[in-house]
Amino acid sequence: MFYQPKDGHRLPHNPFNAIVTPRPIGWISTRGPDGSDNLAPYSFFNGVSYVPPQVMFASTGSKEDRPIGKDSLTNIRDTGEFCVNVVSHAMKDAMNVTAGLYGAEVDEFELAELIKAECETINCARVAASPASLECTVVDIIDLRGENNHMVIGEVTGVHMADDCIVDGIFDVLKYNPLARLGYRDYSTVRDLFSLKRPGE
Ligand SMILES: Cc1cc2nc3c(=O)[nH]c(=O)nc-3n(C[C@H](O)[C@H](O)[C@H](O)COP(=O)(O)O)c2cc1C
Repeated sequence: MFYQPKDGHRLPHNPFNAIVTPRPIGWISTRGPDGSDNLAPYSFFNGVSYVPPQVMFASTGSKEDRPIGKDSLTNIRDTGEFCVNVVSHAMKDAMNVTAGLYGAEVDEFELAELIKAECETINCARVAASPASLECTVVDIIDLRGENNHMVIGEVTGVHMADDCIVDGIFDVLKYNPLARLGYRDYSTVRDLFSLKRPGE
């Protein structure tokens, strides 16, 4: 089949997320100017450069109490800082709890019973048990086409890795099994791995 998004997909559910898949999940922690901590998953997330290392995530839609974007975006606009926490398979249920449409005053760390650790280079909490966390300062916030579509780009200023995930100098994803977002309500877990040499290597 072929469809043009402007005409609709004619399927029971939008297949877009099942096509752009699997996606890593950036579990974004932020701290508001009032000191309140916030945590939410974003799968429109990826790394976008090495030197300096930069990441992006996109906030789509808004909430009743926040007409322009979501709590993460609001905090980031106010402070210029955020932390990306990696989600292991073991953390899938806690991650899901933090995706609820809670009021701005709600601390999702507490709701999901997650222990906080302080970031080193920014004023923000991170998920202590996360296999890795990237402390970021904002480079740009780009308003995308459509209503309330915003892309946040951040420079990574600090990197945390769990020591038990480093095996012979390699950050070993099979030690923590990253969670990946697919389409619909589906997820996958990275449990097997193979390597390919590039042409000429
Ligand atoms: C796995 C997962 C991935 C998500 N990815 C995104 C995303 O990329 N962009 C987005 O705007 N919302 C995404 N959401 C929904 C947000 O997490 C949800 O709206 C949340 O309430 C936002 O919280 P906040 O207002 O504290 O930032 C995702 C939800 C889940 C469960």
